[in-house]
Amino acid sequence: MLDDETITNPHRLLPTVTPRSYRLSIHPDIDENSFRGEVEIETEATSDVSEIVLHSSGLTVTRATVNGIDAAVVLAPDREQMTLSASVSAGQSALIAIDYEGVFNEKLVGFYLSHFTDDHGVPQTMATTQFEAPYARMAFPCWDEPAYKASFEISVTAPEGLDAVSNSAEVERTPNSDGSVLIRFAPTMVMSTYLVAWVIGPLEFSETRMVNGTPLRVVSRPGLGSMSQFALDAAEFALGYFADYFGVAYPGDKVDLIGIPDFAFGAMENLGCITFREAILMVDPAITTQVEMQRSVDVVNHELAHMWFGDLVTMSWWNGIWLNEAFATFMEMKCTDAFRPQWNRWADFGVSRTAAFSTDALASTRPIEFSVQTPQDSEGMFDVLTYEKGAAVVRMLEQHLGEATFREGLRSYMAKHAFGNTETTDLWDAIEDSAGQPVRGMMDDWIFQGGFPLVTVKAGKDSVTLTQSRFMNLDGDATTDGPTEAPVWQTPLRYRRGRGADVTTDSVVLGSQPLKLDLGEHEWILINAEAASFVRVSYPPALLESLAALPLDQLSDVERYGLIDDAWASVLAGSNSSTAFLTLLESMAAETERPVWQRIIAGLSRLNRLVSTDARADFATIAHDILSPMLANLGLTPVLDEPDANRQLRADLVKAMGTIASDPDVQTECQRTVSVGRRDPSLVDPSLLAAAISVAAHVGDEVDFNDFASMYRTSSNPQEQLRYLYSLSTFPSQELTKRLLSMILSGSIRSQNAPFALRFAMENRVGGGVTWDFIKEHWDRLLQMFASGSISRMLEGLPSLDTPEYVADAQAFVDAHPVPQAEKQLQQILEKQRISTQLRLRESERLSDFVGR
Ligand code: BES
Ligand code: ZN
Repeated sequence: MLDDETITNPHRLLPTVTPRSYRLSIHPDIDENSFRGEVEIETEATSDVSEIVLHSSGLTVTRATVNGIDAAVVLAPDREQMTLSASVSAGQSALIAIDYEGVFNEKLVGFYLSHFTDDHGVPQTMATTQFEAPYARMAFPCWDEPAYKASFEISVTAPEGLDAVSNSAEVERTPNSDGSVLIRFAPTMVMSTYLVAWVIGPLEFSETRMVNGTPLRVVSRPGLGSMSQFALDAAEFALGYFADYFGVAYPGDKVDLIGIPDFAFGAMENLGCITFREAILMVDPAITTQVEMQRSVDVVNHELAHMWFGDLVTMSWWNGIWLNEAFATFMEMKCTDAFRPQWNRWADFGVSRTAAFSTDALASTRPIEFSVQTPQDSEGMFDVLTYEKGAAVVRMLEQHLGEATFREGLRSYMAKHAFGNTETTDLWDAIEDSAGQPVRGMMDDWIFQGGFPLVTVKAGKDSVTLTQSRFMNLDGDATTDGPTEAPVWQTPLRYRRGRGADVTTDSVVLGSQPLKLDLGEHEWILINAEAASFVRVSYPPALLESLAALPLDQLSDVERYGLIDDAWASVLAGSNSSTAFLTLLESMAAETERPVWQRIIAGLSRLNRLVSTDARADFATIAHDILSPMLANLGLTPVLDEPDANRQLRADLVKAMGTIASDPDVQTECQRTVSVGRRDPSLVDPSLLAAAISVAAHVGDEVDFNDFASMYRTSSNPQEQLRYLYSLSTFPSQELTKRLLSMILSGSIRSQNAPFALRFAMENRVGGGVTWDFIKEHWDRLLQMFASGSISRMLEGLPSLDTPEYVADAQAFVDAHPVPQAEKQLQQILEKQRISTQLRLRESERLSDFVGR
């Protein structure tokens, strides 16, 4: 099970004594900010030992025994380990019992408190857990590595008036004389410590739905119960979908989805006790945008996919986290697509792939999988390369093999490794067995090398020749090391060509050698059909023009999205000009589909940041010309029974029209919409209201700021609250930005949201500079306030500060203030800042002259 590297790694536990089952009792004292616990661990020795080493962090041991005999305890805080002295011989079992005390964690990991005010204005508290990656050790002594699976029998003392849930079904409640209750839960299946969870608080439970015999509920703080139906519907569908897809029944005995007011991540896949950011789970469809609803379904699906892929079958060590997350991200989209086909989920995946491409085009990218020494190292893996590139690569393999063949492989993997731990290669083995063809070599190319290919198309007579090279951005910084050897990928590619009504699709695998495709007579050829492969494509101008000129029904929306996306990437890479890109956008204004419009609008928004102040009015006119025909088609107000996508598209266009195109009529209309929506949000289409809030903030004054800030404080709807909060980052005034910054410092914005508010404020053209000054000035305080994973999220706003002065300043600041848990992400952010700056130096003047022509 363990290799040599593991045995010499001081952070890893040796498998000389291993846990079978835990019996754990937890007693919180919320008023005292502390808790007590008792744990009994049944273990087995595989060799003779005189001491037992397990994890523990920040806990005080009051008593420890092994097989009933007192054991001396030595703590090693730097390694987060404790050593018990006890002799156990090989083959013997040992019962370890430890009584301990701890205090609640302040940074939303381990065992922590979450606060909220109830409907009567009374402050209330939940005590909840977040154990991934290495934080179970903060709540109880344990073998806190994913391979040490065990069964957990958990009991919790819920203080008077509070309730509790954990991973498994409740089996018993015993009232205590002080008004508290001891709640005992059934033993769980064998599972990893990072999936253990409990939530204690005033809780409201939805109805229970039975899905294939498994009880399903949504749990929240009291008062939000009316917003639980949407997630229940989604989860009911997903549980059925995954049991069928994986060919294995849900492995636990119940499922609770729980909304937590303070939560560091989006959601966490604790077996049967899945915790969420409240605004993701609790949804009132009457006032929620389609984007927010889709996000909610995605996240529910993602965590439920983990019940199988992650919880039932688990990576042996944290280097495997990428597969866990990439796979759940892939399954999430499959399931969302099945749940609401009209949302066109795979087309939306284009947007996430863009984000993955833009990081993976950097010199400072990384391979998807890398070796991880300490669990802390794995924190750097939770990024767009793991989730989005990883999911894209899994999708590419699925499309290459065919969905049915791929699924057969998955089913045999699940059956074979249920309740066990795996390495990435175990999945390839299972897929190779069922597909009857090799996939490991191909997948290794994608997983162990950073970057991705640019497929260059050369036109011949009745043929094209494809070659690949690594796609790289241009940051003008000679000190950045590029790749030393030209990497090669085995790239599965589908291509489609057409001549009149005659359209044919074929597949090839492109390697290091140029590949000639004999096409016969054809009028156009599209490489990377349905954008199924993780590549960008460069066409000769004539081929590209023939594609852009095709009627809309010849190319799918992801494919049209890809044409624009690749064109913008070539501007960033310095092989195309911003003016040519603008011309392409102008030529695509007959577009009808939302995903493609999203890309057009994102392109306009980037160009808008590039044009000089003098040329901005002219640019607004051009943007106006591009946007207005489609907006006129849709109309400014929603139409009865129109498709969801139209409502969202209208909102996207209105937002762009009111901001990038500065249309005064649209701005006035948005202000009117907001004043209606503030009184009663259900009177306005939710997507339109969200867009109107953005536009109104974009041109807002102090009165609006005060109104929006008070909406944020008083709204009881989680999504509405966030919309108003984040709008505060976008007001066109340094004074108002400073008001937001002081709200952050005073703690009146939850630490889970403040990093994002800061990021958006850095992206504010007027307030970005003062925000960056604020971050530098209050750095230590912010580090103290925010969860460690959110520091890099905050700094993602830096690339918007795109001048050589800011580049130098940011680099110097980061050099002096390293963020060890996000070193890689910071390199990437700084490189993106350099790229934006180079882009401005190269293109700003040319673009400004062009739009003023
Ligand atoms: N396992 C993760 C949560 C997590 C992330 C724990 C990082 C510890 C460190 C969970 O399954 C997840 O991926 N959550 C995402 C939401 C998801 C839908 C993309 C998140 O929290 O952002
Ligand atoms: Zn996940």
